[in-house]
Formats: sequence, C-alpha cells, structure tokens
Amino acid sequence: MLDIKITKTANPKAKPQDESKLGFGKVFTDHMFVMNYTEGQGWHDARIVPYENISLSPAAMVFHYGQEMFEGLKAYRGKDGEPRLFRPDMNGKRTNDTNKRLCIPELPVEDFVEAVKAVVKVDEDWIPTAEGTSLYIRPFIIATDEFLGVAPSKTYMFMIILSPSGAYYSSGLAPVGIWIEDDYVRAVRGGIGFAKTGGNYAASLAAQVKAHDGGYSQVLWLDGVERKYIEEVGAMNIFFKIDGKVVTPALSGSILPGITRNSVITLCKSWGLDVEERKISVDELLEAQKSGKLEEVFGTGTAAVISPVGTLRYKDDVMTIGDGSIGELSQKLYDAVTGIQNGTVADEFGWITQV
Ligand code: PLP
Ligand code: COI
Repeated sequence: MLDIKITKTANPKAKPQDESKLGFGKVFTDHMFVMNYTEGQGWHDARIVPYENISLSPAAMVFHYGQEMFEGLKAYRGKDGEPRLFRPDMNGKRTNDTNKRLCIPELPVEDFVEAVKAVVKVDEDWIPTAEGTSLYIRPFIIATDEFLGVAPSKTYMFMIILSPSGAYYSSGLAPVGIWIEDDYVRAVRGGIGFAKTGGNYAASLAAQVKAHDGGYSQVLWLDGVERKYIEEVGAMNIFFKIDGKVVTPALSGSILPGITRNSVITLCKSWGLDVEERKISVDELLEAQKSGKLEEVFGTGTAAVISPVGTLRYKDDVMTIGDGSIGELSQKLYDAVTGIQNGTVADEFGWITQV
C-alpha cells in the first residue's frame, strides 16, 4: 500500500470544450503522480500534486544516456458514467520487464496500479465521454542522478501524467497506409526492442519521416538481422488474416509484447479462430496478397486500438488490402475491445478494473 499525499491545485484549468478536436497527447489534466527512488531507501514520497514543470539538473542522467521507461494505458468513461481501466496490472508487469532490462529498480505491480487509480480518481472529471475518446495515462520513470558517467543511476522519479485524447490517427477507423522499411532497423534480439523505452522510438524517427515523405502514415519494421521477417509497427503490433487464419509475429525479444495484442489473441481464440504466433516473411505476405489470400491486416495498440491497414508498401510493390474499407474481423475486434472498455460488452475475461 502506498501512502499517497494529495495536494490539489488552487487553479483548475478549463476542460476541453469540443471533445471531437482532442487529438492525441496534447492536453494535460490538473494533477500528476510523483514518487522518488533513492538507493538504500527504495521508492518513497508518493504524492499527487498539481501538474507543473519539473526541475532537473542539466546533468541528470536521463538526458544523456536515455535511462528511462514509459507505459501507456487508458481510462474509459462507460455509458453508465463509471470510469474503467483496461488490464492495468499488465502495464505494471511490463514496467518491471522494461525496468529489469534498463537497470531501473522494479516497483510492486500493486503500487503501480494503486498510483494509476489514485491519480485518475483525482482527475476523474477529465475523462472525456464522446465516442472514441478516453483519458490516456502515461506512467514513466527517469534517471535523475547528476552524473555524466555511464552507469545505472542511483535515484529516479516515477511520474504519471494524464491526457484526454481522441483517435491516435487523425483518420480514425479509416485504413492507414504502411511503409515496410527495408533499410533502417528498429531493434535486434538481445537489445531493447521488447522494452518500452524512449530509445526505441528515437531509433524509429528517421524511418517515420521517410514513410511520411512517401505518403505513408506508419512504418512496419522488419527483423534487424535478415530484414526479411515482419516485426511490428511504430506504435502497434501487427496482425494478418491469411486464408482464414489469424497470424501475428511471435514475441522474439525484439518487439513489444502488446497488451492489446494479447487481448486480441485471446478474443480470436475464444471465437474459435486459428491463431498462429510465428515468423512471417515479407515474401509470404507478397505471395498471399498475389494469390488473394491476404484477407485483412490490422494493427493493435492502446493508443490506436484496432487500426485497419489499407495499403502496405515494400520496395516497388504496393499491396492493397481488401476493398479499402475496414475488414470484418478488424471491425468485430474493434467493437469487442472498445465494448469491454466502455462496459457495453460483458467482461468475460476479467480485464476491467474499477477506478
Ligand atoms: N508496439 C509498440 C512499438 C508500441 O509503442 C505499442 C504501444 O504501446 C504497441 C506495440 C502496442 O502495445 P499495447 O497494446 O500494450 O498498447
Ligand atoms: C500506446 O499505445 O500506449 C503507445 O505507447 C503508443 C505511443 C508510442 C504513442
């Protein structure tokens, strides 16, 4: 149990008037959660304070060697007005998997969930209600030692900030175009690809700019060794429906073990679909598309939910998936996942936590 000291703001901000214009990650609520770590003392001073800038030494280690991690989850306001969290314990567990890889001290999963619940409760009125909106929750940890040597920091800050958000892609549920990157790579096995840490995203930017310049909205990464096997998208895991089967890359250490990915696999299996977690080569995809067996492609992620893919570009090949509208399975998954999150579909797997 955390002993969380709460200091409320004396100057609450005006909440966004038009929820249809929220976009993603641009508006922040009135409060944030903060907790410190000091070697020898452990995690201490859990508190909720007004959202404000923080002060750090320019030598703080996070600025130099990127020792940091982050998570992403959402609070949803159901049709019944109740705020809900979707599988926050999974984010707590993944936090510790990331922390272990980056030599950041672990924290109890119960404390992670308690901190998320507490800060969401304080800013509960900021959870938007319009269709497709939610309160995006961003927990993160930074290394704060004032030191320029390369070593694990001895002090850290764990913070949680909140952002009322709409769709991650401005296109909403309209299928996106994806660029299969054949030059840059994101991660290799043994590296930090499975961890949710800023370095992976910094490494992705050059390819993202290239994809945007080419008229595509996201990058699909290939494996870092042979540049042959499909890995994941910039902010999503990827699924294919090939000849009736649901196929997704296996967790090999270089991709993020997505919580939406895990939920989609569970749902598909519960509907009696064949799900294969395995290696998928880009050649297999091209073949499947040419023979008409590539039925659907969609990405999965907290921010993006289920995001249908309409085109995949690889070198000189442009694959068009389906008829350019959302596929049947993608739509069914979107309805099931968002229905569970909003409380309109029964939570048969016990994924929902009340705030
Ligand atoms: N892959 C990457 C690189 C991501 O950033 C995300 C988003 O969090 C995902 C996959 C999907 O993970 P999750 O479903 O847990 O949000
Ligand atoms: C999420 O889906 O929570 C993410 O973290 C995506 C993010 C990189 C914007």
